[in-house]
Amino acid sequence: MTNITPFRPVPLPFARPIRLGILISGGGSTLLNFLEKIDSGELSAEVPLVIASRPGCGGVSRARSAGLVCDVVERKSFPGTAEFSQAIFSKCRSARVELVVLAGFLNLIEVPDDFRYRVMNIHPALIPSFCGRGFYGFKVHEAVLARGAKVSGCTVHFADNQYDHGPILLQSCVAVADDDTAQTLAARVFAAECQAYPEAIRLYAAGRLEIAGQRVRVLEARQTAAAGKEGQKADEKG
Ligand code: GRF
Repeated sequence: MTNITPFRPVPLPFARPIRLGILISGGGSTLLNFLEKIDSGELSAEVPLVIASRPGCGGVSRARSAGLVCDVVERKSFPGTAEFSQAIFSKCRSARVELVVLAGFLNLIEVPDDFRYRVMNIHPALIPSFCGRGFYGFKVHEAVLARGAKVSGCTVHFADNQYDHGPILLQSCVAVADDDTAQTLAARVFAAECQAYPEAIRLYAAGRLEIAGQRVRVLEARQTAAAGKEGQKADEKG
């Protein structure tokens, strides 16, 4: 058996809001859900930066209407994935982003070492089914229905350098109904996403995740109390 040293992201000191960098390519519905959850007090976060990979996508105007900084970084402006990713993460560093959240972001990125386990993605199916290159939007739900699956759902995972890969943090299941269309199934899955993604961010910010290889353990709140005190001490020292 291989021995894997588990990694625990540290909790935020003083339970202050986590600084999110949100990456979008489409309508920004996941972004809007975060903003609603922040407004209602269910998610302690701020959004110093949104990056869109498509200049005309609906999410750009939605983000800017909400008063957020939204930069456009197009894949075609760069020779390769490495350069494209460097441009994105350089902006994230400048904005002091703590967690990068992919929210309907359709391009592959390479996660640099300093952002390892600091990039999350949500996929609208139960990984490892119906995921990977080409599985996005309604295509995912169409494939679920075509295969006759009885359950679907959503998966929040840490992003690595492959599509819909990386350690799984949370999954939430929904039933597939006999009369479902891709649209009705997508709506049910999205309702599950709206709970699961903020929950994953809350667990991360609270230091309640332990990653070992592809497995992520969700820790009880009390298991992180000591780690929280350490973080606080470090912060007081400046
Ligand atoms: C969500 O369903 C999410 O699962 C997927 O993209 C969808 C959000 O797209 N990754 P958008 O924000 O409306 O573009």
